[in-house]
Amino acid sequence: MVSVSAPVLLLLGRGKDSASERGVDCPGELPAPSDPGLVERARAAKAALGDRVFVLGHHYQRDEVIQFADVTGDSFKLAREAAARPDAEFIVFCGVHFMAESADILTTDAQRVVLPDLAAGCSMADMAVLEQVQQAWELLTDLGVADRTIPVTYMNSSADIKGFVGRNKGVVCTSSNAKRALDWAFARGEKVLFLPDQHLGRNTAVLEMGLSLDDCVLYDPHKPNGGLTDQQIRDAKMILWRGHCSVHGRFTLECVDAIREQVPGVNVLVHPECRHEVVNSADFVGSTEYIIKMLEQAPAGSAWAVGTELNLVRRLANRHPDKQIMFLDKTVCYCSTMNRIDLPHLVWALEELVAGRVPNQITVDPDTAHHARVALDQMLALP
Ligand code: 13P
Ligand code: SF4
Repeated sequence: MVSVSAPVLLLLGRGKDSASERGVDCPGELPAPSDPGLVERARAAKAALGDRVFVLGHHYQRDEVIQFADVTGDSFKLAREAAARPDAEFIVFCGVHFMAESADILTTDAQRVVLPDLAAGCSMADMAVLEQVQQAWELLTDLGVADRTIPVTYMNSSADIKGFVGRNKGVVCTSSNAKRALDWAFARGEKVLFLPDQHLGRNTAVLEMGLSLDDCVLYDPHKPNGGLTDQQIRDAKMILWRGHCSVHGRFTLECVDAIREQVPGVNVLVHPECRHEVVNSADFVGSTEYIIKMLEQAPAGSAWAVGTELNLVRRLANRHPDKQIMFLDKTVCYCSTMNRIDLPHLVWALEELVAGRVPNQITVDPDTAHHARVALDQMLALP
């Protein structure tokens, strides 16, 4: 049996919580959100920095922020973009903490990665803490199955977890290459420990790899033995970590049924971070980039109910007025931590850089970065 200690929960952005994706307070004087000069100030600061700064914007960012991004993308594309800009002295990452960490790992030592608000964490990434994952691995070792298990972590995890996966001959994946990562892992082992998103792991295993739901077990880090019997762990092909995205986890089968009733012929398009029953009942499933491409290619007049973050769905609806693009849920559903990055924080970060100070720099310690890079490079090399 493995004993489990409960993680300390902190309020968003309050106090130090270095073991958490939520980071720490954002220091300094922020401009007021009502300041009518914010757009001009952001433009002026960017112009003053010129090529020294490169601004990355995740698709779930607010419009007021995304307008200043030099490139937009999902977490995979942004990691590649960061790695492809060795001449930019500063990478300002408009996204969340784990993305900025990956950017720091993939950029040169001379480059500095800045997250405009350190409270922009990710609740899913927080659901897998290194100590808990090490305990789970000890359990697998005691049961004699660790050497036949390949750890696979979703990009949406802390650098610590990526480092653990790199040390244990595993790989990072994103929602656009999860099947390729699992193919790679099952060619090297009999089991996969999939972190931290149970839904992406289950949906990929069952809907794309042909495994059954019975091949998958759910490991709960808050329960002794993960809430499983030794035999369940020995028999499982996929050991899914009990983590989920609080945004995509909100979509339910009822949402899908309701929209199909209201809008006959509607196409339901969802992200694989949604629950299994939602993904199973959708017409199309794919990563953020896939969702964007599907809607670009959709014929005029077609109707779409989209199950992903609301900033992106609203932007896509505005971009394609010839198509009927709706949010899958009845209620508003932003990612609250993505939304922490607003125009005042971006202006503040850029103006600090102009003043010669580097605010909210994200750094990963060299040993963790080395092993996390092994797992990230393995992902980039997937066939
Ligand atoms: P992607 O950026 O890989 O689509 O992941 C979605 C997400 O939840 C990002 O936090
Ligand atoms: Fe994390 Fe979900 Fe927000 Fe992405 S959308 S940052 S996975 S909470």
